[in-house]
Amino acid sequence: MTTGDRDKLFTPFETAGLRLRNRFVMAPMTRNFAPDGIPSDGVASYYARRAAADVGLIVTEGIGVDHPAALGRESMGGGASPVLHGDAALTRWRDIVTGVHAAGGLIVPQLWHQGVIRVPGTGYHPQAPSARPSGIWGPTDKAMVPPDYLAAVRDPSTPLTDSEIGDIIAAFARSAANARAVGFDGIALHGAHGYLIDSFLWGHTNMRDDRWGGDAAARALFAAEVVRAVRAATAPDFPIIFRFSQWKLQDYDARSAQTPDELAAMLAPIADGGVDIFDASTRLFSTPAFEGSDMGLAGWIKRLTGKPVIAVGGVGLSKDLQSSFAQPTVMTDNLALVADRIAQGEFDLIAVGRALLMDPLWVRKMRDGGAPDPFRLEAYATLD
Ligand SMILES: Cc1cc2nc3c(=O)[nH]c(=O)nc-3n(C[C@H](O)[C@H](O)[C@H](O)COP(=O)(O)O)c2cc1C
Repeated sequence: MTTGDRDKLFTPFETAGLRLRNRFVMAPMTRNFAPDGIPSDGVASYYARRAAADVGLIVTEGIGVDHPAALGRESMGGGASPVLHGDAALTRWRDIVTGVHAAGGLIVPQLWHQGVIRVPGTGYHPQAPSARPSGIWGPTDKAMVPPDYLAAVRDPSTPLTDSEIGDIIAAFARSAANARAVGFDGIALHGAHGYLIDSFLWGHTNMRDDRWGGDAAARALFAAEVVRAVRAATAPDFPIIFRFSQWKLQDYDARSAQTPDELAAMLAPIADGGVDIFDASTRLFSTPAFEGSDMGLAGWIKRLTGKPVIAVGGVGLSKDLQSSFAQPTVMTDNLALVADRIAQGEFDLIAVGRALLMDPLWVRKMRDGGAPDPFRLEAYATLD
């Protein structure tokens, strides 16, 4: 039953030392406005504008961790994704964080290693060998990337060695320590969409027969070790958010976990590693995750781990992300359903991507009853 009590969305939420003024999270969105990995001038005001207009928590665009193979030429967009190491980048991030805090907001960086999805021979360190658990991209018949991209990534490479895996875990830890040093309010780990962490979770990209591969729990070891290392490099009370998805850029219909039991087995070691909040990345927040229940992925993760959860996908819009590139998409108000699911305890926080890209004032307008700016694809190319 929909009661449409939107006020619930504007109530504070506190967990693990993070105190959000409302339930709205800005979803991580790659923008490619960081030539050489250093956020350009407009990035600080881009985030500060959204913080000033009541966004509870900002998760930044994906930021490459301090490892040579973390980023490729194309970060699925154009090729200027930021990093979180080196004086120039850290100075910029410190300013960005200061600006968001001055506007009353909170901000966490999304730490990203593209892994399997990085185009070999590209990025800030083109010579760096590919970082893939089993050397493979995965199935090629359903990929959600353009044909030329697929052609550049489909050839197998040498699987990661044990010591290379250790180096990457250490890179996540270094970047997390840097994040804390410049004042970020926590860490968000990109464990979704087929990138490196997710490629360990998914059986189609992780076919290892050593301790990093095997059943659902074994495939979660890499993610759990990353979380543990990030925890050790920061502080016991530094919030860690982990983004998980079933879908991959290799296959939108993919599932890392086929059943709730398998999902429980996979997430338990990651939660035990020290995650404070899970972020369930779906195309539509309301899509049932498993047969026999209306509950979405966020609800299942909350039920199975007991952790607070962020849901995402299609809030404020008539079409999900992939469809919006091809089909007419309009702003729509579906917040009553979001509010109901939060009130029922299915999830705690709601992330908003494209609607906040279109309109920095979106959260405030939703509170005050204003009309949001219209959906327009060109907004992806500006820092407005
Ligand atoms: C331009 C753009 C860039 C994105 N980049 C990232 C990213 O860097 N990391 C990530 O986890 N998700 C990324 N996403 C996915 C969003 O975080 C979000 O899950 C998705 O857009 C669905 O939310 P929405 O329907 O509210 O847009 C991106 C989405 C868009 C539109």
